[in-house]
Amino acid sequence: MNGLVPLPGHSAVYPGSFDPMTHGHLDVIERAAKIFDTVLVAVVVNPQKREPLFTLDERERMIREAVAHLPNVQVTHFRGLLADFIRRVGATVIVKGLRVVSDFEGEMSTALMNRSLSEVDTVFLPSDPRWSFVSSTLVKEVYNLGADVAKYVPPAVLAVMQAKRPTRPAEPVRSEEV
Ligand code: PNS
Repeated sequence: MNGLVPLPGHSAVYPGSFDPMTHGHLDVIERAAKIFDTVLVAVVVNPQKREPLFTLDERERMIREAVAHLPNVQVTHFRGLLADFIRRVGATVIVKGLRVVSDFEGEMSTALMNRSLSEVDTVFLPSDPRWSFVSSTLVKEVYNLGADVAKYVPPAVLAVMQAKRPTRPAEPVRSEEV
């Protein structure tokens, strides 16, 4: 025990694309699990940005395995408006991580829109500096280009990533590409 008593009656939703989940996501979940009674990790079915690299099933499976040591954390998915989902599950707070200052602008207006729609506030947890440069987008990019991403994702996530596309030896570079 760390002596911390979770805030009674607060069930948090931590929404995201998790395409894939990173160490930064897991760090936010672990810290949120110490603050709130329960944390529901909610994977959005269709991320707004683009077609996900990992299927919904893969993303949920990765997260479930990575949070298996946290008894007050559950994993599910939602489609449509986050505000509607929040109401359906009766959550009292939304948790988001902030990695860098540039995250703030978009997250601030999203938080205000979600509060306007659902009356539920967003609590921001600052990213651990170890992970502030690690985003799903960058992890996907280096993974797609064949780099080792073991440093950036939990082992359970790495296992799914490797099963999906085992690391191939780099292709020889043709002289005109150098
Ligand atoms: O990991 P991401 O991509 O930053 O997560 C974004 C997410 C899923 C939290 C956001 O796109 C979202 O809430 N989508 C659901 C649709 C919605 O409610 N849009 C209005 C937000 S004000």
